[in-house]
Amino acid sequence: MAGLDQRVARRLEALRSRGLERRCPLPTRRRGVAYTLDGQPVIGFCSNDYLGLASGVIASDLPENTSTGATASRLICGDSDEHRALERSLAALVDHEDAVLFSSGYAANVGALPALLEPGDRVFSDALNHASIIDGLRLARARPTIIPHRRAPEHISIATGPTEPATWWVTESVYSMDGDVADPAAITRHLARGGFVYLDEAHSLGLFAGGAGFARHRGIKPSVIIGTLGKAFACAGAFVAGSRAVTELLRSTARSFVFSTGVSPLLVAAIKVALERVVGPDGDRRRERLWTNIARLAERLELEGPPPCSPIFPIHVGDNELAVRVSRELLARGWHVQAIRPPTVPEGTARLRVTVCADHSAEQIDRFAHDLRAAFSTHLGLRPQLRRARAS
Ligand SMILES: Cc1ncc(COP(=O)(O)O)c(C=O)c1O
Repeated sequence: MAGLDQRVARRLEALRSRGLERRCPLPTRRRGVAYTLDGQPVIGFCSNDYLGLASGVIASDLPENTSTGATASRLICGDSDEHRALERSLAALVDHEDAVLFSSGYAANVGALPALLEPGDRVFSDALNHASIIDGLRLARARPTIIPHRRAPEHISIATGPTEPATWWVTESVYSMDGDVADPAAITRHLARGGFVYLDEAHSLGLFAGGAGFARHRGIKPSVIIGTLGKAFACAGAFVAGSRAVTELLRSTARSFVFSTGVSPLLVAAIKVALERVVGPDGDRRRERLWTNIARLAERLELEGPPPCSPIFPIHVGDNELAVRVSRELLARGWHVQAIRPPTVPEGTARLRVTVCADHSAEQIDRFAHDLRAAFSTHLGLRPQLRRARAS
């Protein structure tokens, strides 16, 4: 034990010396975007609860006597009508034939990619894809070509025969740490040429009219869509949507589905309630407030360039320790914003990942923008600017 602790202590010290140690902050007394951290009241600008639904679905909204556990993998005896009905509704939301529930977005990506990719397939993966996609590709033993951020795999030949190697483009729609979006016209071109598109909609599902994600909003139909349910849906879990053939294969071979207990029936019931809210008039009102708040923060920060296309504002700092210092200063002023450092983002691109929610008031946004500008002026002598990831 002592030997293990010594080894671990060495590694922890190495992380600390590079400013890369991580700790879980502990929010208490949460009421929407307001909570306390270490006894200090703060307003959070870092959650993915974009529509402010996290305190909106509570136990009394769920059917009585809903059991907590699926008792086994769905393939053993953990399935239910409710799981299946929810999968059909989620598939309809993203305009696909069918969907399969997973316990998280991470589990969905590390399960679906190895199940879908075949040896010899060519894979193009965006340079800023999420860690769960990277890990899914590793588990698939793919040798992806990493393409510069937001570029499409163009000027390549694509074989289209059913027995020929496929050409996959694996990308996010709204990028989790950068808040920018994939090019829908390039996705359509890739599909039209016979390529496959695997699109992770973690940060866009629910944000557009009718609760749509980016793909439906922009009129594109990727081969496979990943939707996560722990962000705008304020629950947990995820789904992979595609044709019936794709979902049949996933149910038989995606290891994080096959070898994992089915999603809790309690969670299935909560996701159903969240889905009704997201697609209904309550969701419309929340979306309207969200997009108003996004525009307001951009305006108050006097950001240069085109308006943000998502609730995620990656405020560029660069240096890891400086990013932590700015976030501490904001905390002292009552704002909770996390400094995001490598390996979550590439070296030299540490940032504050500011997220806007429907629940923020206009006054909170104005005061936050004022204090963010003050903190930047003190520590960097600059105005806050979005990090616009360049093709690299
Ligand atoms: C693009 C993307 N995919 C997948 C995930 C993982 O989703 P989950 O938090 O449900 O595991 C995340 C989480 O942040 C993400 O940003």
